[in-house]
Amino acid sequence: SGFLPLLKRGLLNLGVSSEFLEFLWKGEGKIPIAKGSVDSVRRQAFFIPLYELFLTYGGVFRLVFGPKSFLIVSDPSVAKHILKDNSKAYSKGILAEILEFVMGKGLIPAGFEVWRVRRRAIVPALHQKYVAAMINLFGEATNRLCKKLDVAASDGEDAEMESLFSRLTLDVIGKAVFNYDFDSLTNDTGIVEAVYTVLREAEDRSVSPIPTWNIPIWKDISPRQRKVNVSLKLINDTLDELIAVCKRLIEQEELQFHEEYMNDQDPSILHFLLASGDDVSSKQLRDDLMTLLIAGHETSAAVLTWTFYLLAKEPRVMSKLQDEVDSVLGDRLPTIEDMKKLKYATRVINESLRLYPQPPVLIRRSLEDDVLGKYPIKRGEDIFISVWNLHHSPNHWVDADTFNPERWPLDGPNPNETNQNFSYLPFGGGPRKCIGDMFATFETVVALVMLVRRFNFQMALGAPPVDMTTGATIHTTEGLHMTVTRRTKPPIIPKLDMEMLQVESDAPVT
Ligand code: HEM
Repeated sequence: SGFLPLLKRGLLNLGVSSEFLEFLWKGEGKIPIAKGSVDSVRRQAFFIPLYELFLTYGGVFRLVFGPKSFLIVSDPSVAKHILKDNSKAYSKGILAEILEFVMGKGLIPAGFEVWRVRRRAIVPALHQKYVAAMINLFGEATNRLCKKLDVAASDGEDAEMESLFSRLTLDVIGKAVFNYDFDSLTNDTGIVEAVYTVLREAEDRSVSPIPTWNIPIWKDISPRQRKVNVSLKLINDTLDELIAVCKRLIEQEELQFHEEYMNDQDPSILHFLLASGDDVSSKQLRDDLMTLLIAGHETSAAVLTWTFYLLAKEPRVMSKLQDEVDSVLGDRLPTIEDMKKLKYATRVINESLRLYPQPPVLIRRSLEDDVLGKYPIKRGEDIFISVWNLHHSPNHWVDADTFNPERWPLDGPNPNETNQNFSYLPFGGGPRKCIGDMFATFETVVALVMLVRRFNFQMALGAPPVDMTTGATIHTTEGLHMTVTRRTKPPIIPKLDMEMLQVESDAPVT
C-alpha cells in the first residue's frame, strides 16, 4: 500500500498532471487502467502524458475517459502483431471516421476491400524512374526556397521556417501527385488557402472530443463549416479539371504503357494511373489524389522543421553534415546517385524521425477478439500505437532523448522497422506501411543538404520557445524562427591532401 502513494508523489514531482494519477489498478492478467480526463490530455500535446503513463503502466494499458476507453500500445512486439502479423484483424477506426470528409475512401482511411485494390493500383506509380525524376523536382523547389532565404539573409530578417517548409513540401507534392504548380512559396492563391483550411479542419477534428461538424444544422450554418465546404469544393473542382487535362494529354500521346512508364513532361502519379488504364470512379480517384496530397505534405514539412530545430541545438552535427555536403555535392544539384553517398545526411533524417515521429501515434480498431501480449482484448477496441513511446523507450535506446545520428553506423543498413524489430517505425510497418518512404527520405535529404550547404541556421534571438502541439503531425506552438546567414565556404581542400601534408611535416628532418 505504501508503494503507490510514493510512485504518485514521484510522478507528480516529475510534472505528471494530477488528473492522470487518479488511476486504478485492476488485478493480475487484466490490462492496467489509467483513469484520466479528456481535458488534461487536450491541454498539451497528448502523446507527452502517454509517455509518463507508459513508464508507469507498461507496454499495454487502458486509458479511460468516462464511457470511452483506448488501449495505448508502446511495446514493439505488440505493435508488430497489430501492424503486421495480424493486420487483417484491425481497421483505421477513429482515424477513418475523422478523415472521411476529406479523404473519403482514399488509401489511408480505406477499409480492407477498397484498400487492396487501390494499393495495388497506386504503388507501381512510385517506381525507381519516377523517384529519380523527383530528385530534380526536389532540387528545383528547394532552389526557390533558397532564393527566398537569400533575401531574408541580406535584409537581416528572421525566417519562420515551419511555414516555409510547409510551402516547400506543398509545392513538391502538388507537382509530384497531379502535376499542379501551387507555387505557394511565391503566391497565396485561393487554392493554397483552401488546402490549408481543409488541413487545419482535419487537424482540429482529430483533437476535438465533440464532433460538432456532424450536428445536422450546425454543419450548414456554422461559418467555419461553410468555409470548409467551400474550400473542399474548390479543391475537388480543381482536381476534376486536372484529371480532365491529364486525360486529354494521354489521348494525344503515343502511349506504350509498361512497368516503368513515365511521361517526361508530366511524371505525376495521376498521369501514371490514367495511362495504366486504371479502372476507377472519378470520386475514388479524387479521394486517392487528396490522400496522397495530405499524406505527403505536412509529414515531410514536420520532418524538416524538427530536423532544423535539432541541428540548431547541436552544432557538432551541423558542421559534420556541412562537411559531408561540401565534399559530396560541391555546387551541383543533387542526383539520385548522390542519395547513396549522403550517408550522414540520411542518418540525420533517420534520427530526426526517431525523436519526432510523424504522426506520433498510429490509430487502429480491432475487428475481432485478439490477444495483445498477455492480454486478451475484445473486438471494437480503439487502439493508439504510440510511435513516440517506442522511439523514446529507455528499454531500447541508449540516451533516448539525445540527438545522435551516429547511433546507426554509416556503413550499416538504413534503420527501418524490420531491422530494428519494430522499435523504430517512422513509416509504419506491415501492409499499411507508407508508400512514400523513399520519396520522403530523398525529399527531406535533398532539401536539408541544399539548405545547409548555402546557409547557417541559428535560433532567432528573442524568438518564442519551441514547444510541441499536435494535429496529425507534431507542430511547433509558435513557429520555428531562425536567423539565416549566407555561409562563407572554406576553400575545398580534399581531406587526403591534408593528411599527407600532416605526415610530411611530422617526418623527421634528416
Ligand atoms: C502511410 C509516415 C510521406 C503516402 C504512412 C504511415 C506512416 C507514414 C507512419 C502509416 C500510417 C498507419 O499505419 O496508420 C510518413 C512520413 C512521411 C511520409 C513520416 C514523410 C517524411 C509520404 C509521402 C507520401 C505518403 C511523400 C506520398 C507520396 C502515404 C500513404 C499511406 C501512408 C498513401 C497509406 C498507405 C496504406 O494504408 O496502404 N505514412 N509518410 N507518405 N503514407 Fe506516408
